[in-house]
Amino acid sequence: MNILHLDASSSAHDESHTRRLTAQLVDELDASDVVYHDLEERQLPHIGVSVRDAWAAEKERDAALDELAARSKQLVTELQAADTIVIGSPMYNFSVPSTLKAWIDHVAIAGQTFEYTDSGPQGLLEGKKAYLVLSSGGIYSEGPAAAKDHLDTYLRAVLNLVGITDITTIRAEGVALGPEQDKAAMQQASAKIKAL
Ligand SMILES: Cc1cc2nc3c(=O)[nH]c(=O)nc-3n(C[C@H](O)[C@H](O)[C@H](O)COP(=O)(O)O)c2cc1C
Repeated sequence: MNILHLDASSSAHDESHTRRLTAQLVDELDASDVVYHDLEERQLPHIGVSVRDAWAAEKERDAALDELAARSKQLVTELQAADTIVIGSPMYNFSVPSTLKAWIDHVAIAGQTFEYTDSGPQGLLEGKKAYLVLSSGGIYSEGPAAAKDHLDTYLRAVLNLVGITDITTIRAEGVALGPEQDKAAMQQASAKIKAL
């Protein structure tokens, strides 16, 4: 098993719910090979003119553009090579942290991880398994706030776009609703990982 493991929490490492849970999950999956990115530490550039130029084959090359292009290519290659993807993401303002969004913008690229066809976009990364390890202050899996969940739904949409449909979500949610709910949410998520 080759795992691509991403963490996007900006919490201190020993306080992060998602980091603790992804570490447990990756440990239990017992992979032969793990590529790890701490996206908070390794801030990827937003997609601006220079990154777009780096992607464009017709642009005149220089060392800086080559370096940007190589970084994007490496991120795509890692995703292509993994058979299992573990994404640890807190909810920030109903969706993913911008550090994770930047990674997505570097890998969800037409012609590389999906392609446009006459019948719509077609993913090129079929046959992979993804785990979404999510945490939020409130509760979004059910109840009145469910319609505001643009974290699980968004990540699933992006993974589906590139052809990944076998997705398991593990949530530690409601962690801001008091220490008891925080502890219960972590215990529940941890038990779900053990039971996988
Ligand atoms: C910038 C920021 C935005 C947040 N936005 C939300 C939100 O929209 N909804 C929510 O329920 N919790 C929100 N939270 C709380 C986090 O999702 C929650 O604390 C989560 O457990 C953090 O995961 P971590 O412990 O792995 O860092 C936010 C926290 C931060 C720092």
